[in-house]
Amino acid sequence: MAIAATFALCVAPSVLAQAKATSDFGKREFEANCASCHGMNAKGNGPLVEWLRKSPPDLTTLAKANGGVLPMARLYDVIDGQNVPSHGTRDMPIWGRDYKIQAAEHYVDVPYDAEAYTRARMLALLEYLNRLQAK
Ligand code: HEC
Repeated sequence: MAIAATFALCVAPSVLAQAKATSDFGKREFEANCASCHGMNAKGNGPLVEWLRKSPPDLTTLAKANGGVLPMARLYDVIDGQNVPSHGTRDMPIWGRDYKIQAAEHYVDVPYDAEAYTRARMLALLEYLNRLQAK
């Protein structure tokens, strides 16, 4: 409930403008921020692939590779990217940092909680990824 409320508070302004496009917030997040590399179907075939040093992994088989359960905590850390030890430059953007910057740009002088804003967007993404998993 607390998460839902925070979620509504954080994302409502940006979502309302585009509510007609889709009410599936996780899907919209994925298509706007991830599909360029991972592909619209999350199988790793986005249009930017040829410019990356590493191929983006197929995100639909993550549960299958983990005994049928999506490893939420590990994925949260990988996508957030701020607490992951660096192995040189990573191709994958550091979303935790990008979302905090976007929150700062969006709210400007309105009080807001950067952690809650980032968490809401990350959880929406993970919930969408969970729906994309191959059975
Ligand atoms: C610029 C290209 C690019 C974008 C945009 C991108 N990724 Fe990635 N992603 C990669 C690459 C490349 C890897 C492989 C690891 C690496 O090189 O960092 C990766 C790895 C991952 C992994 C790791 C899978 C595993 O098993 O460890 C997850 C999860 C993931 N991406 C999710 C996302 C999500 C969610 C988004 C959108 C918020 C996103 N990615 C946006 C390129 C991208």
